[in-house]
Parts: sequence; structure tokens; C-alpha cells
Amino acid sequence: MTKYILEIIYLIASTTFILGLKMLGNPASARKGNLIAAFGMVIAIFGTIFLYTDASGNHLKNLPLIFGGLMLGTVVGWIAAKRVQMTAMPEMVSLFNGMGGACAMLISVIEFQHLTDASHNDFYNAVVNSATLIPKGELTTILIGMIIGSVSFAGSIIAYGKLSGKVKDKSFNAQQFINIGLMLVIIVLAVLAVVNVDANMFYAVLALSLVYGILFVLPIGGADMPVVISLLNSFTGVAAACGGFLYDNKVMLVGGILVGSAGTLLTMVMCKAMNRSLLNVLIGNFGGAKGEAATSSSFQGSTKEITASDAAILMKYAKKVVIVPGYGLAVAQAQHVVHELEELLEKEGVEVKYAIHPVAGRMPGHMNVLLAESNVSYDKLVEMEEINPEFNTTDVVLVVGANDVVNPAAKTDPNSPIYGMPILEVENATNVIVNKRSMKAGYAGIENELFFKPKTSMLFGDAKKALTQLVSEIKSLG
Ligand code: TAP
Repeated sequence: MTKYILEIIYLIASTTFILGLKMLGNPASARKGNLIAAFGMVIAIFGTIFLYTDASGNHLKNLPLIFGGLMLGTVVGWIAAKRVQMTAMPEMVSLFNGMGGACAMLISVIEFQHLTDASHNDFYNAVVNSATLIPKGELTTILIGMIIGSVSFAGSIIAYGKLSGKVKDKSFNAQQFINIGLMLVIIVLAVLAVVNVDANMFYAVLALSLVYGILFVLPIGGADMPVVISLLNSFTGVAAACGGFLYDNKVMLVGGILVGSAGTLLTMVMCKAMNRSLLNVLIGNFGGAKGEAATSSSFQGSTKEITASDAAILMKYAKKVVIVPGYGLAVAQAQHVVHELEELLEKEGVEVKYAIHPVAGRMPGHMNVLLAESNVSYDKLVEMEEINPEFNTTDVVLVVGANDVVNPAAKTDPNSPIYGMPILEVENATNVIVNKRSMKAGYAGIENELFFKPKTSMLFGDAKKALTQLVSEIKSLG
């Protein structure tokens, strides 16, 4: 009976995962979707702990250990999620993803031991070689889960280190060849480990997979980490799905497949939005250290500065203002004051919209999450394809801490690293005000001709301070 109840719980949990994932696709329903999927995970975990029985009808043992682990994980996860800054979100996702990979890796290690111990204890083992008794299908699944899980674990930890500035980009000659060679060695040893049921071989594959995870992520440009994290996330999903196969556990299988496919799709969407191939991300060494350097100007002409009071006049008397948020908005935590500015302008009869570039910021949906935090109405967030035709009827574009996503070089300069990336065509508006702290480059490490165009004015300063000043100037205009 309990077996059937557990199956129903797994079915409900799997449905909540699918529903939750679907709801995450829209900012308005994302929070609820997350809670629904989390509820599914909770019932799946507790259902397994209390209702699972093995073939002989035994329940799970080691309950104090299980609950100890659960409590520790919950407390650490809760505190980490509460404390994390929006700008450090990709780091945290990477770390959590690494934990998922580590789980898949450890499951494989434990199940390899179970499998081999069971065969050694077998009565027939006295006369028959244990290798012939071990189900090869199961062993293959264990090895696949272990390889993918370890690569994901080691890679995610390196990605976390890079994003938090603790690990620097490191590439050396022939790195890609070494990686390919290492992958081949891992595959050959894994096949031998399955054929010969060789524990030494198994642990050699484990060690080499961890090394591969490190070498795979180490040379990738630091700023490309969000794409890599999404890829590693899909690896973790596949590794978890292997666990689902192993335990014949439907909810683990469904969860793993959903994470695997969502991660793969997200990786592809991000690459498309940056107009780069996945291969270019993996071996391109784009952004990162190189990004900080390109600050000297090679453009003719100079930039024009605007004061907050002049910007206030321009915006107050405009018919339509489009705000372009970028990474700097997240750095400055200026999401609340930008919402205040929007409300103020709307009160003055100005139509205000936000132009959302798919890769603005440093993680998928970064701007949506940020603006949702300050209760900006979702219908004001307009996607790139929809807003681009509107710029030539826009009086003022206010760019807040965005750079690459408004860089015309993506359309005009075939030698630019961002050439071909779709951008927000803000230069078509009547006036462009760009708020940033200096003339420094953004993620791609390149200059932006937009800042030198005659219709562009620079409003220098930290976004939060500059927007606060702008708000008070507009208020003072009465
Ligand atoms: P960026 O091109 O990185 O430019 C951000 C700008 O914000 C910088 O030039 C910086 O200039 C300014 N800034 C930083 N702190 C600020 C502050 N406190 N106040 C005001 N301005 C500040 O950002 P973007 O336009 O959002 O483009 C995102 C880039 O990241 C794209 O190249 C994209 O391909 C890449 N990327 C995105 C993702 C995802 S999924 N979103 C993933 C990987 C890579 P100052 O230093 O002069 O202030």
C-alpha cells in the first residue's frame, strides 16, 4: 500500500516540477512557480524517507543521519540565500549546482560499493568470477552519473571561484588538446572499469573526471561563467537522471531530465542572445581580465556631459521615456530609485517603459528579477524585439549602467567581439542620457561609440546617487 502512496506522491511532485518550471517563464508567476516546485520537492523527500521500502520490505535506516543532513543543508541554504547580494547570485547558483554534482558523484560511489560488495558476498562468488555477476547496465549508469557529476562538481567550484575573484582565468598552450585527450582516457578507463568491474579503474576515472572538470572551466573567460554555469547545471541534471535510473525513482528521473533540458535550452538561448556559438564560449576566452583594460578612446570627438538638473528638465517635458537597465543598476542596487523615477514621470504625464535586453546584467532574467524586487509593473518591461521599433518615437532614452547591450559596434564593426549580437537600438531616439561612473568598458571589454554620438549626454556617477539626484531635481521643478 505505502508503495502506491509513494508512487502517487512522486507523480504529484513531478507535476509540480513541470508546472513550476512553466511558471518560472514569466516574471509575474515565477515566485509562485518556485514555491510550487519546492513544495513538490519537499513531499518527494519526506515521502521517500517515511514510505520507501526495499524489496524485502525494509524502510530507510540511518534516520538521524538523514535528518541531521537535511537540517544542516536547510540552515546553510537558508542563510546563504537570505544574505546573498543580487550581484553575487550567479556565484551562489554555481556553488549550489556544484553541490548537486557532488551528490550525483557520491551516489555513484556508494552504489558502486553496494554493487561490488553484494557480488563479493554472493554464495556463487566462491566459484564464479564476481565480474560476471554484476549487472553491466547498472554499472554503466553508475559510471556515467559519476563522470558527469564529478565534472559538474569540480567545474562549478572553479566557476564559483572565478566569479568571486578567487580564481583567475588560466589557459596554457594545447589546453584544448589536453582536455580532449583526458576525455578520451576517461572514456577508455570507464569502459575497462565496466568490463572488468575494477575498483582501481573506477576510482581512477573519478579522479580524472574531477581533474577534467577543473581543466574544462579554468581557461574559459571569467565573464562567460554564467553560460558555463548553465551548461554545468544541465550536466548535474543528467547526472541526477542517472540516479533516477539507478534507483528506478521516477521523480528523480523527471527532475533530472527537466534540469538537464532546461539547462541546455538556457545555454543555447544565452549563446544566441550574444550571437556566439557554444564552442566560442568554451574556447573563446572572451571578456574577463581582458575586459578591464580597454578604456582609452579610439573614437573621434568627445563626450558631452549633462547635469542632473538638465536631465530632469529633458525627462519631465518628454512625452515618452525609455529606461535601459544594465549590469550597473544591479551593482548600484538602484532598482527602487529607478521605480520611483518612473512613477514620478508617469505622474507628470510621461509614458515610461523599460527596455529589457535578454543578456543585460550577468544572469538570465537579471533585470526582470531586479525590477520585480522594486515592484515595477511587468507590463512596463518590454523585450528587445518589441521595443526596438519604438525608439524612433522616443524622446529620451535613459541608459542606467548598461554598456554592451547598447553598443552600436555590434551592428557596424565586423571586427568587434560583439559583432552580430542583437542590441537595443537606443541611438534612434531623439536624446540619449547614459548614466555610468566613468568611461570604463563593460563585460566585453570594448569601447562604446554611443557615448561619443552628438545626441548622447553622459550623466556620470553611481546609478543610485545619480537617479536619486534626478528624482529630487524633477520634484523641485514642481
Ligand atoms: P556591461 O556591458 O557589463 O556594462 C555595465 C556598465 O555598468 C559598465 O560599463 C559600468 O561602467 C557600469 N556600472 C558599473 N557599476 C555601476 C554603478 N554603480 N553605477 C552606474 N554604472 C555602473 O552591462 P550590460 O550592458 O548589462 O551587458 C551585459 C553584458 O554581460 C553583455 O555583454 C552580455 O553578453 C554579458 N553577459 C550576460 C549574461 C546574462 S545571462 N545576462 C551572461 C554572460 C555574459 P562604469 O564602470 O564606468 O560605471
